[in-house]
Amino acid sequence: MMKGAFAMLSEKVSALLNEQVNKEFYSAYLYLDFSNYFEARGLDGFANWYKIQAQEERDHAMLFYQYLHNNSAKVTLGAIAQPDKVLDSDMTVLKAGLEHELYVTGLINTIYAAAYEEKDFRTMQFLDWFVKEQGEEEDNANDLISKMELFGSDPKSLYMLNSELAGRVYSAPSLVL
Ligand code: FEO
Repeated sequence: MMKGAFAMLSEKVSALLNEQVNKEFYSAYLYLDFSNYFEARGLDGFANWYKIQAQEERDHAMLFYQYLHNNSAKVTLGAIAQPDKVLDSDMTVLKAGLEHELYVTGLINTIYAAAYEEKDFRTMQFLDWFVKEQGEEEDNANDLISKMELFGSDPKSLYMLNSELAGRVYSAPSLVL
């Protein structure tokens, strides 16, 4: 369990945070698979967008990892599952992204609820950033689906959308621990 005189994470909260390290690395791996799909399709802009998404997910994983260490909690690194979504069309990929983000929002909410129950205000404050981030992640995923619905069936418009997504650049998370 915990070490250090100032340790304050409960076993339950710390186990959930530890699981989240793994889930965020899985998210990175999943989005890399999406990027992989679009590379093979020749849609390099979409591939770029998901590659950057994968980078952001690695950042999320590291934030959970660092938060645990900053609070003297033990971290156990488990196996990262193989991406298991069936990617058989562009829209399937985009929808799998939204579905995944909704799932992650649920995970964050579960940890938040556990922290709330235990009056673990420090963890709640840490998670606030993720609550906001999940709102943005869901928005982005929804936005991609809407654009694809509007423009995906026209090759010229798809080309333009691909070019727009090629412009996404990585930026480090605003949360620093
Ligand atoms: Fe780490 Fe896409 O949520």
